[in-house]
Amino acid sequence: MVNKITSLAEYFRKYQESVADPDGFWGNIAETHFWQKKWDQVLDWSFEGKDAPRVNWFVNGKLNITENIFERNMFMRKDQVAIIWEPNDPKDPEVKLTYGELFDKVKQFANALKKIGVEKGDRVAIYLPMIPELAIAMLACARIGAIHSIVFAGFSASALADRVIDAKAKVVITSDAGFRGNKTIPLKAIVDEALEKCPSVEHTIVYKHNGDDIKFKDNHDIWWHDLIKGVSSENTAEVMDAEDMLFILYTSGSTGKPKGVVHTTGGYMVYTEYTFKNVFQYNDGDIYWCTADIGWVTGHSYIVYGPLLTGATSVMFEGVPTWPDAGRFWDIVDKYKITHFYTAPTAIRALVAQGDQWVTGHDLSSLRVLGTVGEPINEEAWRWYHDVVGKGKCPIVDTWWQTETGGIMISPLAGITPTKPSLATLPLPGIQPVLVDPEGNELKGNAVEGILCIKYPWPGMLRTTYGDHQRCFQTYFSAFRGLYLTGDGAKRDEEGYYRIIGRIDDVINVSGHRIGTAEVEDAINQHPKVVESAVVGYPHEIKGSGIYAYVICEEMSDTDLANIENEIKATVTKFIGPIAKPDKIQIVSGLPKTRSGKIMRRILRKIGEGDATNLGDTSTLLDPHVVEEIIEGAKVEVKR
Ligand code: WT7
Repeated sequence: MVNKITSLAEYFRKYQESVADPDGFWGNIAETHFWQKKWDQVLDWSFEGKDAPRVNWFVNGKLNITENIFERNMFMRKDQVAIIWEPNDPKDPEVKLTYGELFDKVKQFANALKKIGVEKGDRVAIYLPMIPELAIAMLACARIGAIHSIVFAGFSASALADRVIDAKAKVVITSDAGFRGNKTIPLKAIVDEALEKCPSVEHTIVYKHNGDDIKFKDNHDIWWHDLIKGVSSENTAEVMDAEDMLFILYTSGSTGKPKGVVHTTGGYMVYTEYTFKNVFQYNDGDIYWCTADIGWVTGHSYIVYGPLLTGATSVMFEGVPTWPDAGRFWDIVDKYKITHFYTAPTAIRALVAQGDQWVTGHDLSSLRVLGTVGEPINEEAWRWYHDVVGKGKCPIVDTWWQTETGGIMISPLAGITPTKPSLATLPLPGIQPVLVDPEGNELKGNAVEGILCIKYPWPGMLRTTYGDHQRCFQTYFSAFRGLYLTGDGAKRDEEGYYRIIGRIDDVINVSGHRIGTAEVEDAINQHPKVVESAVVGYPHEIKGSGIYAYVICEEMSDTDLANIENEIKATVTKFIGPIAKPDKIQIVSGLPKTRSGKIMRRILRKIGEGDATNLGDTSTLLDPHVVEEIIEGAKVEVKR
């Protein structure tokens, strides 16, 4: 397979090459893609100055990413399975789509979108469960140059509306319902509620998945099956500039408003394909399964784009790991003879808790490579994954990256880079990580710990935050001159291996999902009885981090007080979704603030961790008494 590193020595050689001559390095890789017009310049960039960040890869190159998935692969792979879809209910039939079949469906849906007036540059919001139509819809957008904005189908109507409004989406694509284990989620009804606030949307396309009756608004709502009826699957790909937007994906940050991370066409294509084949060491004939949802970046890059560009067979699963029972993952591994399995540490920890017997009864001999993503993996979970799932014979790739990076940044190459439990190990070629202290001084050498930044552009990086370029600069490029700020702390060990420690900003990583504390506080504050709140993360055995909310309420009766916790949880579910629901809520009479009114979250974090003995410097506190009270309250909280 072209551009695939096959030994550690080659990795080191490629790494040196990529740093010494990034243009030559990425230019050579991009040569193996299909371009309608070649670029004039590999990279034009600046992280400083008026228009910063300015990052243009493959300047003036013209292409369409779907031509690189389909036309480029068609000769060899027309009859090879591209997507295997495993339904939520194991009693329902699976779906297998070959590259040829998927191509036809993508082209037909692309034409259907055009038929209702979707044009190059329009934004299309996609709110679908994990069904093949999700992949078809996104690729159809890419085919015609529409910008997809996929919203995870676990977000609430209110969160969906915020994202649709920000992107000014013209069309929303959804289904009547989605299934997750024994739950049915009424997606169309959620979209209807969201769209009351979204004037930009002209049509809702509805895929019939569950078949139950739904409210249908004539002229606005269109059934997917009606829309494609009689539509041809002849379609020529739109010519895209390498820097035309491919998609927007909203992610949480330090403020209450989610950011629309923007990825563009050429660089993202080159980066996802290159990282997919190198990290996973995918070979022809392998069956690769990433358990993420396409609503997150992991699914974008490593269920759809990376694998399909490579010509892989990619498995998509609609359900959950514990339904009908805790052996579901391993049923699926056995059923399709999965060779590559990529999941989140939180899923691994949840399965550890269910006991080994769910794993050991299955034939997992097809597995060759295991992967993790989304959060640091603790050593115990790593060992279980390695020994019980991988039977000690499968390398684990602990892949560190972010929505903003587009693809994997620091990770072992499977079977090539020697691994250590809990370490993401070494940067991929083309990636220059640096650790800095809070003043921005680079920490050189090994055995150091600091703030993780990246020194030089890579093709998969974000280009802007949708509609607000200044915010992109402020968030990622203003803290330290000339560096991309990741928001993570990391350690470089004696050997130069990286261990990611976790977020250093006001973002909590809950079950591998990014939740901004400000977002959760904004949601909690919507409750009429809430005066103020402060949210922090605390260590949680399964989720990695749990959400701990300290809330000041108005005076209330005992009955109100008894219900307030549940009501607050319901409020957060309504404004964001169940993923952001606080695990612990403590009603307090005050919050620790500085004299200037700033909440001292450091103190709340310490208390939440159950470590109130060493609160550090509290001399700037306005009212130290509040802290005593919260500590006492926290003890009660823990005992319950
Ligand atoms: C944050 C990014 C990248 C896809 C899923 C999450 C954390 C991610 C690892 C890892 C330790 C990790 C970081 C990062 N993270 N992978 N292998 N080890 N931490 O994407 O929602 O953009 O979150 O996830 O804290 O900043 P995301």
